[in-house]
Amino acid sequence: MDLHLELSGHRVRAGLEAALRNAVQTGRLAPGTRLPSSRALAADLGIARNSVAEAYGQLVAEGWLTARQGAGTRVADAAAPARAPATEAQSSGGILRVRYDLRPGSPDLSAFPRSWWLSAARKALSAAPSHALGYGDPRGRPELRTALAGYLARARGVRASPDRIVVCAGFTQGLALLCQVLPGTGVARVAVEEYGRPDPVRTLAASGLGPAMLSVDGGGAVLDPLPAAEAMLLTPAHQFPLGRVLSPRRRADAARWAAGTGGLIIEDDYDGEFRYDRQPVGALQALAPEHVVYAGTASKTLAPGLRLGWLVLPGHLVDAVTDAKAMADGQTSSLEQLTLAEFITSGAYDRHVRRERLDYRRRRDRLIDALARHAPSVRLTGIAAGLHAVVELPRGWSEPQVVARAAARGVAVEGLGDYALRDHTRGPALVIGYASPPGHAYTTALARLAAAIQNQ
Ligand SMILES: Cc1ncc(COP(=O)(O)O)c(C=O)c1O
Repeated sequence: MDLHLELSGHRVRAGLEAALRNAVQTGRLAPGTRLPSSRALAADLGIARNSVAEAYGQLVAEGWLTARQGAGTRVADAAAPARAPATEAQSSGGILRVRYDLRPGSPDLSAFPRSWWLSAARKALSAAPSHALGYGDPRGRPELRTALAGYLARARGVRASPDRIVVCAGFTQGLALLCQVLPGTGVARVAVEEYGRPDPVRTLAASGLGPAMLSVDGGGAVLDPLPAAEAMLLTPAHQFPLGRVLSPRRRADAARWAAGTGGLIIEDDYDGEFRYDRQPVGALQALAPEHVVYAGTASKTLAPGLRLGWLVLPGHLVDAVTDAKAMADGQTSSLEQLTLAEFITSGAYDRHVRRERLDYRRRRDRLIDALARHAPSVRLTGIAAGLHAVVELPRGWSEPQVVARAAARGVAVEGLGDYALRDHTRGPALVIGYASPPGHAYTTALARLAAAIQNQ
């Protein structure tokens, strides 16, 4: 294998990594090609074995290579970057790169249950009647809506029937569909939690739906005073990003407000399956199914790239949202829907979620442990849940400086200020997504993060 390497000085590993990446990108190393063992390549090139192992590890993390016990290291079949933003952030000019992505938002993509998904896809396609491949109900395949109704009732306490479900391209499309429909139902403004993702706010604003702001404290969104809006978008099971759970009293208040005023609650249940200290609280939707749109997604349990999500709608919104979905894209891909339906009914979804729950729980514990040992001046807050945690920095520290120090160590993190939808009034903090690095990279990611915080 001629890698055209010029290996010298401290950039040996970076050079090897760049050469391998280039060889894969340009097709010189074809998908499936088995690479030499790290020992053999190191001996060949006259460099340390560690350098080769680390270069392989990095390229596995980026999705160019795969490593399986017994099968060695190979060029990935679909050699494509696992995280486009992370690879874009890389630069070759001697600038340190983003190697360890601790930004919130993604599950561990290297843990996607490929073989289970493939067998579900095979089974679903073999069993599907021909008409299932044609144009169908814009709400989605009945097989999937039935599977989801059962799963959501069992796992999240949602009161769902298949005819109230619209399958969509993630929460993102679900919200966009609602934004088209809500103005016609008397909603002029939607209230959102004052800390959250900017994207939904942009979607709401583009439809002229506000937003109004709700404060957030230790009990989740503050509902006293009640919002000056006809609808609110909440993350009740795990406030994003502050990690609080909506208190039982506020859940009841929210349901009462909606039922009493005809208001609407959009419940973004993005990571409700992941609770580590107790059974997850059930969906708020069950308290007022005619006033709550429950929104779920496969983006945290499986992978965002699937673009699979679902809305469970109050009766009065079903037709209008179905029409909006029909206009937007006709329907979500029936093959993906049939596969997910099979994946759920076969029990693979539950098995996968159980496995990931265990993994993410351990990662969170290790994050707590690493910070307690190496950066005792910071404090992790939020309930034991989800795929991210907020790490509060001592007063007076600068979020951007800590983020920059982490970046200089190849670690991408975000400051809480990135999620302030109005003024950032809280103390400095980081939002750490602990699920996204592949397992083999997590130890180093934590060590580098702790070093970046500690060396204030
Ligand atoms: C708070 C929140 N809601 C929803 C989503 C999921 O969006 P989608 O289903 O469009 O991938 C995310 C993903 O990052 C999120 O952080």
